Amino acid sequence: MEKYIFLALFLLTFVSGAVHADQTLAMQSGCLGCHKVDAKLVGPAFKDVAAKYAADPSEIDRLTSKVKAGSTPGEPLVWGSVAMPPNMAPPEKIKQVIEWVMTLQ
Ligand code: HEC
Repeated sequence: MEKYIFLALFLLTFVSGAVHADQTLAMQSGCLGCHKVDAKLVGPAFKDVAAKYAADPSEIDRLTSKVKAGSTPGEPLVWGSVAMPPNMAPPEKIKQVIEWVMTLQ
């Protein structure tokens, strides 16, 4: 009996872990300190970002470089009055987070 409970817990952890993998990555990369999925925080809600860009797959690479480098000083801000600082996370992680963001609608 105990064996089955252990197995069930193991499967549960594995399955829910897979579903939230990119949200975890977003958290580890520090994105969720400024972004929430469905509400504006310091930066725009990730759902609003998806609504604006998800139709165009080429945006993924552009946004990855932009998030890595941060908002360009002097360039008009897209979402309001706050600029995004450069991000320390490796570009492949940022890209994975953005790919996940684009699936939020
Ligand atoms: C210190 C706060 C902060 C952190 C940390 C942060 N962001 Fe942002 N982000 C912002 C702000 C502010 C904006 C809005 C900039 C603007 O209006 O141009 C923004 C905008 C964006 C945009 C939209 C850019 C555009 O051109 O429309 C994306 C996508 C994004 N962030 C993704 C991320 C990801 C992914 C991470 C983590 C790797 C992250 N952000 C970390 C504050 C942050």
